[in-house]
Amino acid sequence: MRDRSHPLELLRQAATGRAAAGVRRALVPRGPNLDGPNLGGWARDGLLDLASNDYLGLCGDERLNAAAAEAARVWGTGSTGSRLVTGTTELHARLETALARFTGAAGALVFSSGYLANLTVVTALAAVLGAPNDLLIVSDEGNHASLIDACRLSRARVTVTPHRDPDAVRKVLANRDEAAAIVVSDAVFSVDGALAPVAELHAAARCGGALLVLDEAHAFGVTGPGGRGAAAAAGIAAEPDLIRTVTLSKALAGQGGAVLGAPEVIATLIDTGRGFIFDTGLAPPCAGAALAALEVVEAEPGLGVRARAAATRLAAIAAEENLRVSAPDAAVLAVTVGESARAVRAREICAAYGVRVGCFRPPSVPRGRACLRLTGRASLTEDDFAAAARALAAVRDDDES
Ligand SMILES: Cc1ncc(COP(=O)(O)O)c(C=O)c1O
Repeated sequence: MRDRSHPLELLRQAATGRAAAGVRRALVPRGPNLDGPNLGGWARDGLLDLASNDYLGLCGDERLNAAAAEAARVWGTGSTGSRLVTGTTELHARLETALARFTGAAGALVFSSGYLANLTVVTALAAVLGAPNDLLIVSDEGNHASLIDACRLSRARVTVTPHRDPDAVRKVLANRDEAAAIVVSDAVFSVDGALAPVAELHAAARCGGALLVLDEAHAFGVTGPGGRGAAAAAGIAAEPDLIRTVTLSKALAGQGGAVLGAPEVIATLIDTGRGFIFDTGLAPPCAGAALAALEVVEAEPGLGVRARAAATRLAAIAAEENLRVSAPDAAVLAVTVGESARAVRAREICAAYGVRVGCFRPPSVPRGRACLRLTGRASLTEDDFAAAARALAAVRDDDES
């Protein structure tokens, strides 16, 4: 037998390599937020949060907390089983009805995460529509990891198209040999915050006889009329060949995900979706909190507008400092700094100025395109913008030194 290093030694070596490449990660626990109700604001550890996905500032909101507590009182902390066995409570049914009504979808199915919703919908549809041999999936190069993993797991042939390029999608669909096809795209891309050309993508998919799966994770609650998302903004929410996924973990400030689509799609997922059938149902406190969050979003349609305005303001601040910043279409923006080590340093500078920002390195972004990821939040104040300006000026100064 060949002499092999011990597997743990191989893991140590790989970690050393990642350290040299500036892509080691560390978990930094946040302190408790005992001074105020909103975990997204100035937290007890003194850092202003410009990194989270709590776009509407609803995390810690008393209405959501109370709904989660009431759900725990009535149903307990867990759903006790998979959705098809004991894991569907009345709360799940109400949440699915509410999500479908709010988004204008024919039906909704709730999952324990947005990641799992993406993984399940693509793999389940692919299996029925002809994977591995007779199905093509067309995927934008900027798609979220959950869609990328879903494509891989589908075993279909996958063609990756350039970022936000419906003409490329059209061509790939027209030239395929496979009978069936699915187009998958983020609606708002998770790193650069750009909006996909949703109407054009849908037209390209329809023209090519394909279904469009649109991940509204960063659009839901933030863009479109009253936060109803990018498809609603494009006027295609009710189209039967459009399937949307949403997460309950970003604008709704909770946990979980959902697929929105035609009855045929929902039935396929219930009967065959492995991530639906073999996963414990969403915990009732999460379902209760999501229902309450949805009520808040409906009652306060200005929240999404404010989150977008906050992102636009942060982008303007970064541009004033001559940083390379994306133009945010929703609440996300990216400041590209290049090498991973520089991104880590820029994040540390921001922290030293009291501001927490995201630091995205490979594999989250391509090599050499590491960035700071900032998010706007509806609850940001003038003091917060001033703090962001001081932090980004320091990043710029460091760049020039
Ligand atoms: C575009 C996109 N889709 C899906 C997900 C996964 O959602 P969740 O965190 O609810 O699993 C994320 C989360 O980061 C995301 O950014």
